[in-house]
Parts: sequence; structure tokens; C-alpha cells
Amino acid sequence: MALRKLVAGNWKMNGSLASLVELDLILAAAQAHPSVDVAVCPPFTLIAPAVARVPALAVGAQDCHGQSKGAHTGCVSTAMLVEVGARLVIVGHSERRADQHETDAEVQAKAAAAISAGMVAIVCVGETEADRDAGRAMAVVESQLDGSIPRDGTGATLVVAYEPVWAIGTGRTPSTGDVADMHAAIRARLAGLIGGEGARVRILYGGSVKPDNARELLAVADVDGALVGGASLTAAQFVPIIEGAVAASG
Ligand code: 13P
Repeated sequence: MALRKLVAGNWKMNGSLASLVELDLILAAAQAHPSVDVAVCPPFTLIAPAVARVPALAVGAQDCHGQSKGAHTGCVSTAMLVEVGARLVIVGHSERRADQHETDAEVQAKAAAAISAGMVAIVCVGETEADRDAGRAMAVVESQLDGSIPRDGTGATLVVAYEPVWAIGTGRTPSTGDVADMHAAIRARLAGLIGGEGARVRILYGGSVKPDNARELLAVADVDGALVGGASLTAAQFVPIIEGAVAASG
């Protein structure tokens, strides 16, 4: 079953009020290509101004807390995100799993909180280069899914992003065969975890997606979109990736 593709940009700790001008052309591309979904996840401080500038564009966050409120200095709840218009939230990105030592259980709590708040949770998984070299890439990703996926997730509320850590920001990507194998394994694992809804959950590929490789990666079986870092910061790079998704949707 071909699912509607989602192209999501993760600005990470980049961008400024001035760079929101990029969203005008990104929204124009999204509206010109209604066969795919487009979203941009800027840093927390830019969410409200982004929504104000382009209310028709899906804007998301890059993290949230697993609890609804309380004594958690520096954290942001899903209710706060919803209030300013965020519709999605990335959880469990490998940079947070590494830098903030986030565990699968924390990622699962964050995803569950996002879903209960009416948002779409994009749960990130992916192996390190050492994992892949040791032949345990699939086992690592399956274990992350087991620990991180909220069991009430559905095709409408849950997205999985497969991002091999060694492909992020490096210009390196797995072969299309390796991507196909991993996405098939993720699809199978989702069926075990959430049953029939697993077939409706979009599985994004992320890691050095660029205008020149987007179409090929997005045409791989069970690749239902892309999570894009560096190339999502400018419309000049992000729009061709959206167009690649359209072309790959056939
Ligand atoms: P790059 O596209 O810059 O490799 O980043 C991928 C990523 O981590 C998106 O979440």
C-alpha cells in the first residue's frame, strides 16, 4: 500500500526570525503539490512566528516533555506546543539520544504525550556506524522501536523516521537496498507492536537527503517520506526535495 509521502524539515539549532522568509516558498511548493505532505520543525523560539507567517504550513517542534506540566526547568510541554500552533513533534532524534542521554522509555513517554495532545509524533530510530559494522543494525533499530513506540499509535498520529546516525550530516547514505531492507524490517516490527495500524504508519528516511538523491531514496519501497536536516534550511534545497517526493509518488 503506497502511503501519502511526508517531507519534514528539521532545522535543528539553526534559523532566525530573518530565515522564516524561506517558509514563504516552502509553503508555495507545498500548496503546488497537494499530493504530498510538507512540514517544517524549527527551534522552539521560531514556532509561533513561523505559524503566524505561514498558518497553512504544518509547523512542528523538535522535542517535548513526556509530562503535561511541572518542575522541569528548560522543558516544553505538548500543551504549550499545541497552544502556539505546532502540529507535529520529532522525538528521540539521535542527537538527543546521544547529547541528552534520552532513553527509549523517555522517547516513548514523549511520543505518547504528543499523541494525547493531538499532535503527530515522529519517532526517530537508527543505528550507529559501529552497530552496522558489527551486523547489528536491524537488531538495534528493532529494539529502539520496541522501547519507543507508543502502542496506541496509529497511521494518523505516529510517524517513524529511520535515520542511520552515520548518514546524518555526513553526505553518506545507505544503498537503496539497505534502506529497503531496513524499512521492511521496521514495517514488520510495527505490525507486531501496533497491529494493523502498522501498515498505515509512515516510515521516513533521514540522513543526508539532498535534492540530487531525494527522488531515488523516496522511490524505495516503504519509504514514505524524508526527514531532512541541512537541506531543509533553504527553500532552494528543500523545494527540490519536495518535488522529488512528488515524482517518486508517481
Ligand atoms: P541531514 O539531512 O543534515 O543529514 O540531517 C538529517 C537529520 O538528522 C534530520 O533529522
